[in-house]
Amino acid sequence: MDYLKIHSTQQLSGEISISGAKNASLPLIAMTILAKKPLTIGNLPDVVDIKTLLKLLTKLGAECEFSHKSVRVDTSSINETKATYDIVKTMRASILVLGPILARFGHCEVSLPGGCAIGQRPIDLHLKALEQMGAHIDIQAGYIQATTPNGLHGCEIIFDKITVTGTANIVMAAALAKGVTTITNAAREPEVVQLCEILAKSGVNIKGIGTAILEIEGTDGALLDIADFDVIPDRIEAGTYLCAGAITKNELTLTHVEPKHLGAVLSKLEEMGSSFTITDDTITIHPAQEIKPVKIVTQEYPAFPTDMQAQFLALATQAEGVSIIEEKLFENRFMHVSELQRMGADITLNGHTATVSGKTELSGTDVMATDLRASSALVLAALVANGETNIHRIYHLDRGYEALEEKLQNIGAKIERLKE
Ligand code: UD1
Repeated sequence: MDYLKIHSTQQLSGEISISGAKNASLPLIAMTILAKKPLTIGNLPDVVDIKTLLKLLTKLGAECEFSHKSVRVDTSSINETKATYDIVKTMRASILVLGPILARFGHCEVSLPGGCAIGQRPIDLHLKALEQMGAHIDIQAGYIQATTPNGLHGCEIIFDKITVTGTANIVMAAALAKGVTTITNAAREPEVVQLCEILAKSGVNIKGIGTAILEIEGTDGALLDIADFDVIPDRIEAGTYLCAGAITKNELTLTHVEPKHLGAVLSKLEEMGSSFTITDDTITIHPAQEIKPVKIVTQEYPAFPTDMQAQFLALATQAEGVSIIEEKLFENRFMHVSELQRMGADITLNGHTATVSGKTELSGTDVMATDLRASSALVLAALVANGETNIHRIYHLDRGYEALEEKLQNIGAKIERLKE
């Protein structure tokens, strides 16, 4: 197993090129199941989660050629409709194939994803919405078995909670359904917006893109003519590197980034004392020399993302004063706290709220990555911790950060990947 050895780094400088968004790529790859002919998706991040989904599509019979950040996918050869446990257990987002397979083939089996390090993460809302659209769903031996005896039809869906992959799944199912599906309380994340925009360009009439009410007029089974396209930049990767500039107090420039997707993150960094120079596709952070404490509540887009909570928690350990960080989306998303405490952070957890007292001197030690974003919080802490930090179980990091150590090495960080 690989681990990262990181030495405290005073000086970072230069540019970091932001990769394509993992969380946009996953639904977009699943969407190719709805395509009439092969297509190429560009600006894909080279990360494990993308390879996992392509492996799943390949197992279903699709042809996927991944080369240099793009993939050519031909789903016309799909001859299997079962997403088996061996793949789904490694990536919950595999559930994204349920909507499109069911819409195209009228039946689908997907292993239930099971538990997760950051919370229970049920998929009841995906299933309830598909049932409303006419699917029959049985849970048998750990598998969702879905059929559509009379096809999928449009209907009015009101999500009890805003769900990102749930919205994507239902939008994809609705794209091929008969009639109009209205989704109220839809997710407005940029990743969902890109999915809707590509579907709209491919002949599906979608109203309300980017709002909480989506209206999708299905094609009644007709496959879609989807042209080649590029995935949007990864706003969470970008936010993580902005935190690297802020925590080490170094000016850094991000390129190939979409500043419009980073509103809440930039605003919190500003409250903490940083300022920015922003162009259409670059952000330069001018970090605060004295970091101010902050209050953060994670919420759905456009509010502050839960996927940036761990990184800001690491940053708050270096703020002068008391920061309060409340996690509203996932009940167990504070696993990084105990590792940061082992490095010397002063953090008190009370239910869903972390109180971080700073500034504390952090010391390098051996720590364990517990989930994807928790891992990047440990990397940030290690950049300013005295001495050497070894971060174990970085397979979590490899799921979602493309070439993290190369990108950090290029700006001067002392970071290396070693084998246990
Ligand atoms: C997606 C992102 C993940 C991010 C999360 C929240 C991908 C691949 N993953 O995850 O990085 O942290 O959005 O922004 O895009 N819920 C239910 N029932 C459901 C579905 C969700 O109760 O059927 C709950 C969840 O437990 C959670 C909340 O709704 O509390 C939001 O979850 P959701 O938006 O579905 O997260 P994901 O789509 O899994």
